[in-house]
Amino acid sequence: MTQEGCLIIAGLGLHPGQCTLEARAALIAADIVFVQAGEADMLAWVRELNGRTLSLQDFYAGRATRLDAYAAMAEAMLAPVRRGLRVCAAFYGHPGVFVSPSHIACGRAAEEGLLVVMLPGVSAEDCLFADLGVDPGQSGLQSYEARDFFVHARQIDATAPLVLWQPIVVDEAALSGFNSRLGAIRALAAALMEIYPPSHEIILYEAAVRMDESARIEKLTLANLERAQFAQETTLYVPALRGPALSTSRARLMKRLLAEDNC
Ligand SMILES: C[S@@+](CC[C@H](N)C(=O)[O-])C[C@H]1O[C@@H](n2cnc3c(N)ncnc32)[C@H](O)[C@@H]1O
Repeated sequence: MTQEGCLIIAGLGLHPGQCTLEARAALIAADIVFVQAGEADMLAWVRELNGRTLSLQDFYAGRATRLDAYAAMAEAMLAPVRRGLRVCAAFYGHPGVFVSPSHIACGRAAEEGLLVVMLPGVSAEDCLFADLGVDPGQSGLQSYEARDFFVHARQIDATAPLVLWQPIVVDEAALSGFNSRLGAIRALAAALMEIYPPSHEIILYEAAVRMDESARIEKLTLANLERAQFAQETTLYVPALRGPALSTSRARLMKRLLAEDNC
């Protein structure tokens, strides 16, 4: 009887200390591992667990666009599954958060009736909750990719915090169509200043990617955003401008419905 192949898509967290026990077990048990590690140390750690590990970073070389590379990664993950092998595709952070190849592979696997499971991981946003003391249960939360926020008419609620992922993508002038880095950042700052005053304090956040490091938490005003140094791993955190207002119309509605209910 031939073994049924499977694809396990696992999150690694931002450093090995955050890798879950189930993800670690999947890495060890796999016939082949594909990994997208944020850091060289993480790649080395995965290779220690399983010597049959290939880096997904190599798939970018020679491909015209990121989308081509993502499609090639998904295909590489699924090919051994069709041959009956156990494949583990491991991504830093959470494997379903801003990770296109994992979603492409999941979709294709489902179409083909292949066995696929996604194991969650500790994302950068999870680390942000811990390092910045943010509780979405108290404050609410809006979370967008920075370019998505910029190009779409998103309705931003200034009474809840805003997380902007991948501000570097706006920064990379070639991707955003601006001629200069400064032009792109100024455009992002201008979009934010349609909602918040220039004096509003924002945070450049980078979670620790090694167990012995601490996070980068740099505060600056929106007016000074153009001086910010964005790295690949920077996330922008915009605190709420003010607290939410109680809805008088909903209070009236509730009163009416309670009265009807008690009749
Ligand atoms: C392609 S996404 C990958 C997200 C990852 N899958 C996760 O679950 O955190 C890359 C973006 O995640 C955020 N990110 C990645 N590493 C980070 C870190 N160490 N600290 C803060 N944000 C980080 C940044 O916004 C970065 O541009």
